Amino acid sequence: MPKAVYPGTFDPITRGHLDIILRACKIFGDLTILLAPNSRKHPFFSVEQRLSLIQDELKQMPYKCEVEIFEGLLVDAVRNVGANVIVRGLRAISDYEYELQIASLNRGMAPEVETVFMLASEGSHYISSSLVKEISSHGGDVSNLVSPAVAKALQQAFHAPRQSPQSSYRP
Ligand code: PNS
Repeated sequence: MPKAVYPGTFDPITRGHLDIILRACKIFGDLTILLAPNSRKHPFFSVEQRLSLIQDELKQMPYKCEVEIFEGLLVDAVRNVGANVIVRGLRAISDYEYELQIASLNRGMAPEVETVFMLASEGSHYISSSLVKEISSHGGDVSNLVSPAVAKALQQAFHAPRQSPQSSYRP
């Protein structure tokens, strides 16, 4: 049986990610979300915040879905959880080049692991965590892009500076 993981930085988790998670769960039965603590993107939210936001979302899921933090190579984490499929979402053609590169490199390191791409749904192909942060940092409404819990976390991070040590973020 295929066992799938859905890796990412989730900084923060968006409705686009949730769309992929829900649809991947329907195909693979159970799914492990692999949260990268520190990627080249230098995340805005701490790994604890991102984990907590993902866990809140998973409580609403009608499927068995877990989240784990992983360090090091993705293919090692995939093997550690006993999976053989990596799910990645594809939005625009601009995603393709990067995804082709990492899927090819991952296949070179772990030929037994297959990368499966899912096209973002019509309603979420324009959503990215970076743009969500940019909009929120300028006081814009992100309620159609992220869940209420994530919108609240963004609001607190950007607009309650004394409660957030990360308020120096500039998109
Ligand atoms: O959501 P993102 O930021 O596009 O996720 C990228 C991620 C975390 C999946 C990717 O950076 C990754 O796999 N990092 C782990 C390190 C690794 O295995 N790098 C080699 C891939 S070729």
